[in-house]
Amino acid sequence: MTYIYGHRGASAHCPENTMAAFVKALACGADGIELDVHLTKDRIPVIIHDDQVKRTTNGKGWVKHLSLDEIKRLDAGSWFSPAFKTEKILTLQEFLEWIAPTSLFLNIELKNNTVEYEGMEALVYNLVQTYEMKERTIYSSFNHYSLVQMKKIDESVETATLYSSALYKPWAYAKSLGASSVHPHYKTLKPAIIQQLKAHGIGIRPYTVNQEKWLTYFFQQNIDAIITDSPDVAHAIRHSC
Ligand code: G3P
Ligand code: MG
Repeated sequence: MTYIYGHRGASAHCPENTMAAFVKALACGADGIELDVHLTKDRIPVIIHDDQVKRTTNGKGWVKHLSLDEIKRLDAGSWFSPAFKTEKILTLQEFLEWIAPTSLFLNIELKNNTVEYEGMEALVYNLVQTYEMKERTIYSSFNHYSLVQMKKIDESVETATLYSSALYKPWAYAKSLGASSVHPHYKTLKPAIIQQLKAHGIGIRPYTVNQEKWLTYFFQQNIDAIITDSPDVAHAIRHSC
């Protein structure tokens, strides 16, 4: 079965990367959650997509320049709808407390491709270990050095190469980094590429698959998972495929 991962939670319905979005993803029938992690000034892993807080909160500034106290004072929901005005930026730890008792899978995207967060991999890895989530967690990043670093910390973790444009032999490239799966932009996944990735035993989880046409295509291709803003729509289509 092709699993469904909620992209930043159920981000079509709720403010992305908030508890509301994660709870909604579970209610929509998602099998897993994709989320984005940065570090605060005091080096706490927090869940937010952008390098700066402006787009998704009522604050401004870089995540790396704000303390957790400052981050926690922000409203992370009103930008989406007043109904979500009590949503806060979550720490990764708060999120892990929530997800650990569920059966959801987890994809942690390390957002260290434009900002350097020294030692981020170990901080995140240790938290995941604390909550015994290793077997259900995939680490991905557009920063492929970070994926290699994760494998140095623990060679048995699952890592996935994120990329937005077609790569030459993505199966060979993933293997060269020790990654066991790819998380490509969905439009790079032509049938011949899917076939080769499968033949080389590489897991396939494209982002961000929202349209019915593409969801149907990927369910018919029987790939490992899709990452979507609307897990409810994906769930209904998977059921009818
Ligand atoms: O991890 C898949 C996807 O989230 C990557 O792009 O910008 O939505 O984090 P972005
Ligand atoms: Mg992401």
